[in-house]
Amino acid sequence: MTADRRDFPADFAWGTATASYQIEGATDVDGRGQSIWDAFTRVPGAIADGKTGDLADDHYRRFREDVSIMADLGVNAYRFSIAWSRIQADGTGPANPLGIGFYRELSEALLERGITPYVTLYHWDLPLALEERGGWLERDTAERYGEYAGLVTGELGDVVKHWITLNEPWCSAFLGYASGIHAPGKQLGSRSARAAHHLLLGHGRAVPAIRAAQSDAIVGVTLNLYSMRAASESAADLDAKRRIDGLTNRFFLEPILAGHYPEDVIADLGEGQWFGQNPASDAADIAAPIDFLGINYYSRHTVAAPPLGSPVMGEACGLTYPGSEAVQLIDTGVARTHMGWPIHPEGMVDVLELANSYQPDLPLYITENGSAYPDAVVDGEVEDENRRRYLEQHVMACSAALDKGLPLKGYFVWTLADNFEWAWGYSRRFGLVHVDYATQKRTIKRSGKWFARFLGGTAGDAS
Ligand code: FCB
Repeated sequence: MTADRRDFPADFAWGTATASYQIEGATDVDGRGQSIWDAFTRVPGAIADGKTGDLADDHYRRFREDVSIMADLGVNAYRFSIAWSRIQADGTGPANPLGIGFYRELSEALLERGITPYVTLYHWDLPLALEERGGWLERDTAERYGEYAGLVTGELGDVVKHWITLNEPWCSAFLGYASGIHAPGKQLGSRSARAAHHLLLGHGRAVPAIRAAQSDAIVGVTLNLYSMRAASESAADLDAKRRIDGLTNRFFLEPILAGHYPEDVIADLGEGQWFGQNPASDAADIAAPIDFLGINYYSRHTVAAPPLGSPVMGEACGLTYPGSEAVQLIDTGVARTHMGWPIHPEGMVDVLELANSYQPDLPLYITENGSAYPDAVVDGEVEDENRRRYLEQHVMACSAALDKGLPLKGYFVWTLADNFEWAWGYSRRFGLVHVDYATQKRTIKRSGKWFARFLGGTAGDAS
C-alpha cells in the first residue's frame, strides 16, 4: 500500500516543523538577547561536535529561499518557533520591533504562498537573563512567559492564528534540569519536576493571555508522547511501564486535559517541594481549555524492571527519569534511526488514542515526526530511502488513526532542512532538505521529493 493524499480530508494540515535556535543563526543581530542555548553550547563537552547555533541554517537571512522550497514541496502549513529573546532580550519589557518584524515578514511570506503559520511560542530557548534568576525553577518565569505570549499575540495576531504555547515541556524540564544534557544543563533529580510545574503554569498563563490579545486565536500545546510497552506481563515490568508512561506522558497530559497531576507519579517523585506555591489553584489555570493538542511522536519505549546489576534506564539511554531511575529500556531488535530510536509507526496511533481518551472531541495534530539518517549528497542527489519509508509508514499511521475516528487534523514532518540537533550538534540530519553547512546550499532529498509528490508539489519526483 502507498500513501495517498486523497485519503485525507481536504483541509488536513500538511507541513514541516522547525525551531528558532535550530535554524535561525543571526544570534547577535537586531537586538536579540542571549538565550540559555547560546550559553550551553559554550560549555566544553556539552555538544557532541562542539558546535553552536550561531549560524545554523542561516535561516534568519535566507528565510525567503526556505519559504520558496516549502512552496515547491507543496505544504499548506509550517510550524516554526519564536525566539523569546528576539522579542524581549532579557525576558521582560516591551516588544523589540525588529524581532517582531522578522516573524511578521516570515509569516507574510508564508501566507503569500498559501502556507498557514503554526507558531510555537517557546521551543526551549529561554532568555538567559531569566535563567540567571532561576529559570523554570522559579514561579516568576511562568508569569513572565504569560506576558510574553500575550505580547507576541497582540503584535502578530493579524498574520498568525494558530499558537502553540510550549514545545515538549518534558524535554525542557527533565533533559534541562534532571539529565542535564540540554540547557541549562542542571542535574537536580526530583527537583526538576518543579521546572515542569512552572512550564505547565506558564502554559496556563499563556492561554488566557493569547485569547485576551486575539479573540479568534486557536491555541494549543505540544507534548512529546511515547508509545509504551512492558517487556513482560510481570508485575515488576508493568510497574516499570506505569512509571515511565507516568513521567513522560501522563504527567503532562493529565494536568492540561484533566485538571490534576497523576497521584502515582507524585508518589514516585517522592518529594513535596517541587510544586512551588498554590498547586491547587494552579491546577485550574493549567487546565485552561485549549483548541487542539500537538503531539510529537518518534518512537516507542519498551521497558522492564532490571535484574540486579544490569544497566538501568539512565545508563542505557543517557537520560535520567526522576523517581523512576530503576527502569530498564529494552532493545527489542526492531530497526532504529540514526538517533537509536526504534521505529514503530503503529505507536503513533497509540499516542493519538491516549490523548483522545482524555478529551474525545479535542482536535489533535502530529506536530513533529521524522527520522535522522547519515545522508550524503552524491551526484547532486540524496538517496534517503530509509527516511522516505519512515515517513510513508507514519503517514499511513495517520490514515489508520482517521479510520479509527480519531480527530487528527494535521501532520508536520520534523524537519524542513537539516539543522542544529541540540546536544548532537550537526551530527544528526533530520531534514527533507539537505544542508551543506560550509556553503548553506540546500538540496531536496529523495524523501522531500517523495513528500512533494504525495502533496502534489512542484518538487515532486516522477517515480
Ligand atoms: C524533538 C524536538 C525537536 C527536534 C526533534 C528531533 O524532541 O522538539 O526540536 O530536536 O526532537
